[in-house]
Amino acid sequence: MPLVRFSIALLLCVSVAAITGCGEPPGPTGTDPEALYQHHCARCHARAGEPGGPTLGGSKGPDLSHIGSATGMTADWIAAYVANPKSVRPDARLMPAFGDKMTPEQIRALAEWLAARK
Ligand code: HEC
Repeated sequence: MPLVRFSIALLLCVSVAAITGCGEPPGPTGTDPEALYQHHCARCHARAGEPGGPTLGGSKGPDLSHIGSATGMTADWIAAYVANPKSVRPDARLMPAFGDKMTPEQIRALAEWLAARK
C-alpha cells in the first residue's frame, strides 16, 4: 500500500519538524528596526493595544514612543544600553542585555530608529 507508506512518512516528517522547532518563526536576520523591535522589545515596551503589546494593562518596560526627546538618549547611548544596560546604567534591573542576541549592526539600526522617535 504505497499511499499508507506515504502518509506515515509525511506524518513522521511533520512530527520531526514540530519537535525540532522548524515551524517556529526565527528572529529577524536583517537590520529592519521595526521587525527587530517587534521581535525583541515589544513584549515589554509596547503600550496596551500597540502591535506586539499586551491587549490589556501596561507593560513591564517604560514607554519608548518618544524616547528620542529624552535628555541624553542619543543613538550612541541607546546602542550601549541595549547591548548591556548595566554598562551605562548600573541600576537597570529588568532590562535584558542584547549584546549576544543581536549583531552590532542590528543594535545600531534599532538605536538610531529609537533616537529618531521624538
Ligand atoms: C523583559 C522585558 C524587557 C525587554 C524584552 C526589553 N526591555 Fe527595555 N527596559 C525594560 C525595563 C524594565 C526597563 C527599565 C529599567 C530596568 O528596570 O531595567 C527598560 C529600559 C529601557 C530603556 C531606557 C528607557 C528609559 O526611559 O530609561 C531603553 C532605551 C530600552 N529599555 C530599550 C529596549 C530595547 C531597544 C529593547 C529590545 C531590543 C528592550 N528594551 C527590551 C524591560 C525590557
